[in-house]
Amino acid sequence: MIPRPENPLIVALDVSELGRAEELASALAPHVGMLKVGLELCWAIGPDAVRKVARHAPVFVDSKLHDIPNTVERAAANIARLGPRMLNVHALGGVEMMRAALRGATRGAEEAGAPRPMVLAVTVLSSHAGEDLASPASLAFEARAAGLDGVVVSGRDVRDVREACGEDFCLVVPGIRPAGSNGDDQTRVLTPAAAQDKGADYLVVGRPITSVADPAAAARSILLELR
Ligand code: C5P
Repeated sequence: MIPRPENPLIVALDVSELGRAEELASALAPHVGMLKVGLELCWAIGPDAVRKVARHAPVFVDSKLHDIPNTVERAAANIARLGPRMLNVHALGGVEMMRAALRGATRGAEEAGAPRPMVLAVTVLSSHAGEDLASPASLAFEARAAGLDGVVVSGRDVRDVREACGEDFCLVVPGIRPAGSNGDDQTRVLTPAAAQDKGADYLVVGRPITSVADPAAAARSILLELR
């Protein structure tokens, strides 16, 4: 069984200004396991966003790579050179592509003298309501067969994926909403405690923390809901 993280909270820094990202990173660093740098911030600022946020807390680069294996391998190497704790690809890219991502991440980290980031696969985006895609459990099984460290999976599917993939596999669950809040555009929401009960290792929370007046207090109150 992989050791459960000391702090399971990952906050998504979905903002477009570096100043705001750093302000949030500095306020949230004491309360999070990781900070997530995703498409919005990366496309506004570039790789420097990862370097700057990493000064505050370990970074999950939500890169969501999905391309031919060669391209994904090289992109994963470039991301790994930035020293993140975690990066991800789409499981729908296939086993060869996932293996390539792992090779790239290993090489990039070695070149940077950094530990290899965990490489995860996104199964099905949590804003999908149930279109006919491959099942999250089968995608997760493929990710595991490819040697990946875990998957990003919705709250609705996390229990199935845990059962299919066992304890020794990292499950990251977005679409988390504190009890009583709205779901924004997420359709598969769970409360933090419910996600953990179903087998989540990490919980990704964005707007319920980043768009309130006191993000640190919001993060603390989510942690209090957890065991
Ligand atoms: O603001 P909110 O809590 O909805 O943010 C959720 C974050 O998790 C976003 O950054 C989104 O890109 C990410 N995410 C997701 N579903 C996935 C993978 C990542 O919502 N399957």
